[in-house]
Amino acid sequence: MSGLFITLEGGEGAGKSTQARLLADHLRGLGLDVDLTREPGGTPGAEALRDFLLFGGHDLSPRAEVMAHFAARADHVDRRIAPALAAGKVVICDRFADSTEAYQGHGLGNGDPALLDLIARLRALVPAMPDLTLVLQAPPAIAAARMAARANSRADRGHTDRGRTDRYEALDTAFHARVAAGFDTIARRDATRCRRIDASAAMDAVQDAIRAVVAPYLERVGHA
Ligand code: TMP
Repeated sequence: MSGLFITLEGGEGAGKSTQARLLADHLRGLGLDVDLTREPGGTPGAEALRDFLLFGGHDLSPRAEVMAHFAARADHVDRRIAPALAAGKVVICDRFADSTEAYQGHGLGNGDPALLDLIARLRALVPAMPDLTLVLQAPPAIAAARMAARANSRADRGHTDRGRTDRYEALDTAFHARVAAGFDTIARRDATRCRRIDASAAMDAVQDAIRAVVAPYLERVGHA
């Protein structure tokens, strides 16, 4: 595949979605063809699965939940990400497979080796590996304040998730601490692909740090 695949990962309230949007705007300003997307979601079928997973009120078995996230991912990769990369685009994806490992494997599954093994196997079957993963990390107090602010602004302005709190956001602080530790483990293990970004700074400073990390990758899509 000839394009550039960048993912943003991190716990709730790290400012991922804002930073993904700012990065997409910046790269478009440089004249690059950018597809900004998200998971779970990004295609009509995967968005329907998003609704089911985040707001459906179902309690799937851990393995079934992992597979449902990967079902959404397979549709997204087959119908959107792989074609965009084949066309030479920059794909920026707000969350990808690392989120399944952090949320289902570490957060819900408490690091259960059988579940982590299933996630690793499914991941190997998905024919798309990010060239670069930005792992945004913010201390719990900052993340909690941003989550609260986000909940308010969503209710006021109408968000694509219609102001609803999803099932993972609603879980306790111990869950979110396991998710954050999971992302940290992934970032250290896959240190070539992943770059940890300190997301506790102001929005513009975080975006500057992200642009500095992304810059060397742009040669790949013909931008000197
Ligand atoms: P967000 O788009 O607001 O980050 O919401 C997506 C939620 O879904 C978030 O709580 C993380 C969760 N999630 C998983 O649990 N597993 C996954 O594989 C993905 C992509 C997201």
